[in-house]
Amino acid sequence: MTVYDSERPLRVCILTGGGDAPSLNAAVRAFVHAASRRSLLVHASHFGFEGLIGKEALAPLRIDDVRGILPRGGSILGCSTHSNPFSVATGETSATDACERLKARLCEVGIGGLVLAGGDGTMAIAARLGQLGVPCIGIPKTIDGDLGGTEQTCGLDTAVETATRAIDSLHATAEAHQRVFVVEVMGRYAGWIALQAGIAGGADAILLPEIPYEVDRVIAKIRERDSFGLRFSIVVIGEGARAVREETSEIEHARPGRPARLGGAGERLVQEFLARSLPHDVRLTVLGHLQRGGSPTAHDRLLATRLGTHAAELCAQGRFGRMVCLRGGHVDSIAIEEACRLPGRVQPDHDLLRCARLLGIELGRVPEARAGETRS
Ligand code: F6P
Repeated sequence: MTVYDSERPLRVCILTGGGDAPSLNAAVRAFVHAASRRSLLVHASHFGFEGLIGKEALAPLRIDDVRGILPRGGSILGCSTHSNPFSVATGETSATDACERLKARLCEVGIGGLVLAGGDGTMAIAARLGQLGVPCIGIPKTIDGDLGGTEQTCGLDTAVETATRAIDSLHATAEAHQRVFVVEVMGRYAGWIALQAGIAGGADAILLPEIPYEVDRVIAKIRERDSFGLRFSIVVIGEGARAVREETSEIEHARPGRPARLGGAGERLVQEFLARSLPHDVRLTVLGHLQRGGSPTAHDRLLATRLGTHAAELCAQGRFGRMVCLRGGHVDSIAIEEACRLPGRVQPDHDLLRCARLLGIELGRVPEARAGETRS
């Protein structure tokens, strides 16, 4: 369904897919402003794809509608983590494909392109829609940072800032009471928030989903600090982290149309500490959705604004099938399908891991020796 015609103003529909992330509003605002200067007519789908597969009108989105939203968290368009048009839940264990309905709605309203601000799930949907002939452009947003093909995603910086401030506060009380604090952060199967906030907040151990940990190594680190007279420690753990030979901890398993809900990683670690008679008072703080809310940092606002304006430019040029991205610090774009194939998780040779190790931060595991290297 290619509706692009350089002679006619193009109608595009924007939505914010998956969970919300700080600076989504900044991206929407930037897109609407830049689109209006390129004679694009912008419509909105509310609550992710729900607007496109439901009955609600795909109302126009104008500059007046996006005034004052730059510093606001959340998304004025609403979000949904269970509105995948390829798998719309029809019951507890059943789902149906609503793509034909989606395409019909686009034709009804005369929409020639979709702009999808989302994470890995939304980009996977965009890639499949592209194969069905629906022209899509992606804007990468996720606090998890787990999207390949871009150096940064909108929302991660704010989440890292929030987690870092929390770790700072916990440091003070940990020291005052000589306690061990386990701080569980979000990120699903990627450890970007844990790693960045852990280093920025001066954590003593950081446990990532990408590196299954040995609890004895974490305990050894805490005891080492004891031996220096430092009877308090901060252990940051990503919600998707797990001990060697364990599974990721889930509150709810995945079911049709809904991803698994992670949770309990921090509690499990605390129980391990207790089972091994760690002689400290141990406390757990789960930061949860605090990391998703709040006003975006200046960094995120800027990133979202750059990516949002570039998305409008690509629409105006009829360059669909691409995700706007940051490459070498510059705004660029990449084929959505390629972005979906590239790794979004922390890679073993990432310099932040080396940095953490050089600082003496315990990562729960001896690094894998690479070819030609001897393990110390
Ligand atoms: O993907 C963003 C994220 O915040 C993850 O870090 C977290 O696991 C998940 O969403 C929480 O989802 P929900 O808001 O549905 O509980």
